Amino acid sequence: MHTPSILVSALALALAQAAAAAPSSVLHRRQANAECTNVQVFVARGSLEEIPGRQGKLVDAVCGGMPAGTTCGSTDIQYPATFDAYCKSVGSGVSFALRAVEAYAAACPDSKMVLTGYSQGAHLMGDATTAPLAAAAAKKVMAVTLFGDVRHTANQTYNLGEGAGKSGILPRKGAQLTGLNVHSDKIHSWCNGQDPVCSSGNDLDQHLTYFDQFTPDAAAFIKSKL
Ligand SMILES: *[C@@H]1O[C@H](CO)[C@@H](O)[C@H](O)[C@H]1NC(C)=O
Repeated sequence: MHTPSILVSALALALAQAAAAAPSSVLHRRQANAECTNVQVFVARGSLEEIPGRQGKLVDAVCGGMPAGTTCGSTDIQYPATFDAYCKSVGSGVSFALRAVEAYAAACPDSKMVLTGYSQGAHLMGDATTAPLAAAAAKKVMAVTLFGDVRHTANQTYNLGEGAGKSGILPRKGAQLTGLNVHSDKIHSWCNGQDPVCSSGNDLDQHLTYFDQFTPDAAAFIKSKL
C-alpha cells in the first residue's frame, strides 16, 4: 500500500503542530484484562496524538451516560500512529485491535464492544472491521464509529457530514469495500467537506474538530446500537 508522500509530509507537519497545541487528556483509561465491563470502547487514536487523543471526549460521552449499574470502560489501541512507515503503523494497529477485541470477547463474553477510530485510527479500525474476527467476537461488536477516515469512500450508506460524497487519501475498493460494507448497519463515518484526509479538501482545521462537532451524535448512535 502506498500513500502520496508529498501529501503525507505536509499533513505530518501540520498535524505535529496541531498535536503540540492539543490539550492533554487526564482521563483514566481502563485496559483490557482489567475487570469485565458491560460496554467496552476500543479507541484507535489519530496520527501523532497522545493516548487517548481527541476521542477521549467521545468515550466520556458514551460511558458518562450509561444507566445506573451499567459499567463502561475503554481500551486504547497501542500502535505507533506515525506517518513514518505508515503502512507498518496501521498494520500493527490492526493486529493489536484484533487481538484485543478477541481477547476481550473471550474473557468477557457478556460485554458489548464498540470500535472507534480517528484519522489513521479510522483507517485501522475500518481494516480491523473488515478482517475476519472470531465469530464470537464479531457478534459482540455493536457499533463502529469513524472520523476523518484516511480510507473514506464516497457515497457509502454510513457516511455522514458534508464530505459524505467525497473520497479520502486511500479510498476502499473492491473486496476491501464490500468486506467493510457487510457491517454497514453498525457503522457511522463522519467526514467534513474540506478535510484533506477524508474528502480531499484543503482545510486542516476541519480534520481537527470532529469531537467538538459530532460527539453528541456519535454517542447517541453508539447507545442506540447497544
Ligand atoms: C457521490 O454522489 C454525488 C451525489 O449524487 C455525486 O455527485 C458524486 O459524483 C458521487 N461520487 C462518487 C465518487 O461516486
